[in-house]
Amino acid sequence: MIKSALMNVMTAAALKAGRGLKRDFGEVENLQVSVKGPGDFVSAADRKAEKVLFEELSKARPGYGFVLEESGTIEGPDKSHTWYIDPLDGTTNFLHGLPLFAISIALAREGQLVAGLVYNPVTDEMFVAEKGQGAYCNNRRLRVAARRDLADTLIGCGVPHLGKMNDHARFTKEFNAVMAKVANLRRLGSAALDLCFVAAGSYDGFWERGLKSWDMAAGIVIVREAGGFVTDADGGEDMMGKGSVCAGNEAIHRQLLALVRS
Ligand code: IPD
Ligand code: CA
Ligand code: CA
Repeated sequence: MIKSALMNVMTAAALKAGRGLKRDFGEVENLQVSVKGPGDFVSAADRKAEKVLFEELSKARPGYGFVLEESGTIEGPDKSHTWYIDPLDGTTNFLHGLPLFAISIALAREGQLVAGLVYNPVTDEMFVAEKGQGAYCNNRRLRVAARRDLADTLIGCGVPHLGKMNDHARFTKEFNAVMAKVANLRRLGSAALDLCFVAAGSYDGFWERGLKSWDMAAGIVIVREAGGFVTDADGGEDMMGKGSVCAGNEAIHRQLLALVRS
């Protein structure tokens, strides 16, 4: 486990926001049967969690900047530190009563990602990593899977939703190319957790386009610290700029990237 002051701050903020999200998740089931559905309630839960994270992290590290999914970019006097925060990654799952969602917090120092945390408050799984310190889930050290043959692999992906019709054709091509070579595919609906599943060796690889910085920042640190490779979907280092990721161990990352690019 990582016992740094920074990780204590991140963990405390995530646990506090996570308690609220878990409570609200319990209410979602009751709202499912109403005609209007739980949409507005979920948006409120999302914003509440973000407010808790913003307040806790601002208190503990005054002056750091923020890139927040709901409130946008907030610059601080300290230009060398930026938090990337998704208070609820996996909103669709949350909305439908599926317990696969997480809080995602990452810290960049001088433009380099140095720490990441992804917390699922329902399963109480806390994935953390700090640059040079390794990656952990609760007290368990994480290592990416060792499989090297694509035919043995389970690969995660993201499917562009209805509002992203322009991306459907490209995704279908990529999906077909990967499906023809791997054991099977998964689409779980939380990019932050998807990357943690690569770090934990549950998935052998993962790729997705159309993501935002807050979806992937924490997961990138966690995969790297678990010994994995992460690039954008073109094989470069601009994941956050391009909004795409491809991850796995060295061999699977290379082969998956080649399929996605073909
Ligand atoms: C979404 C999830 C999903 C991914 C979407 C993201 P949200 O984040 O990470 O897995 O496919 O592109 O927008 O909206 O649940 O925070
Ligand atoms: Ca997200
Ligand atoms: Ca979100």
